[in-house]
Amino acid sequence: MSTDTAALQAEILGQIAAADAPDALEAVRVAAMGKQGQVTQLLKTLGGMSPEERSVAGPAFNGLREAVAAALAAKKAALDEAALNAKLAAERQDMTLPVSLPPAGSVHPVSQVMDELAEIFADLGFAVATGPEIEDDWHNFTALNIPESHPARAMHDTFYIDGQPHLVLRTHTSPVQIRTMMAQQPPIRIIAPGRVYRSDSDATHTPMFHQIEGLVIDKGITLAHLRWTLETFIKAFFEVDDVALRFRPSYFPFTEPSVEVDVGYSSKTGKPAGAADVDKWLEVLGSGMVHPRVIAACGLDPNEWQGFAFGTGVDRLAMLKYGLTDLRAFFDGDIGWLRHHGFSAFDLPSISAGAAL
Ligand code: DAH
Repeated sequence: MSTDTAALQAEILGQIAAADAPDALEAVRVAAMGKQGQVTQLLKTLGGMSPEERSVAGPAFNGLREAVAAALAAKKAALDEAALNAKLAAERQDMTLPVSLPPAGSVHPVSQVMDELAEIFADLGFAVATGPEIEDDWHNFTALNIPESHPARAMHDTFYIDGQPHLVLRTHTSPVQIRTMMAQQPPIRIIAPGRVYRSDSDATHTPMFHQIEGLVIDKGITLAHLRWTLETFIKAFFEVDDVALRFRPSYFPFTEPSVEVDVGYSSKTGKPAGAADVDKWLEVLGSGMVHPRVIAACGLDPNEWQGFAFGTGVDRLAMLKYGLTDLRAFFDGDIGWLRHHGFSAFDLPSISAGAAL
């Protein structure tokens, strides 16, 4: 290597060593190895040399190029590592520190109401049961005394799964009654909150909505038990001391007798009320005594076991309790609506707050 080449190499390696940031290193790289760079220019001179000259200068110039390239790569790796370490140090978080801000999210009114219902019914000795949202038609219909040809199947606006005609998106939470009776022995006391689906959409209907189912199976259960349970639940949920209930004869395939339950309402307080203050009635639930055929379909003897069931819309309960008027807003995911109507995660429903018994 000539002294010139050696001097140039020492000079460039010195600049590389002195570059203390990616920009500075890039400037050194361009000055040496760029199109007009010193090393590139030097390599170009090989073309004009005699073979003898080239046999000496070629290895020297290439050695220079390799040494500079290696030094650039090493320095780049060192700078990248230093930058990463600085970033890691700057963004270091002590996860053991207590939070300094309250959570920014809020609990959706539907979740809040489901929590309140679970709390109220837990106090009455009910467990929470769940079932799949993709259900087979035996659990969703047949076992609930809705056979293939039954008009109630058509009434349900069912979503079927493509290519799997026996699978549906459950149209109600009632199949959880069946799953529970098949899975455990009575006595049974459960509620089953969850999503349900129907092909229906307007201002008061959304294709997905929420229901809650209740089921009691035991010996000697009568409509009186149903009435007391519903009355206790409505009073606790709406936080009122008295409530008038009206049982209207109705029809559901899975209950016999079936009743629709209206809650007496006072326009003055905007809440359910006792008989003296009622000026209108709101239909809130479907219910009845579990049909003997449903009990038998689950492998239980209907002469031994009886029970009642009820089902209602959770979204509607939330609208009534919290004065919400537009069902579709529930599912828009609008952060402003959620901030306004949502609940604090610390606002746990309890029997003494939000769910007074
Ligand atoms: N499954 C019914 C529906 O979706 C609601 C219902 C009515 C549930 C009566 C019940 C019941 O458990 O007894 O409209």
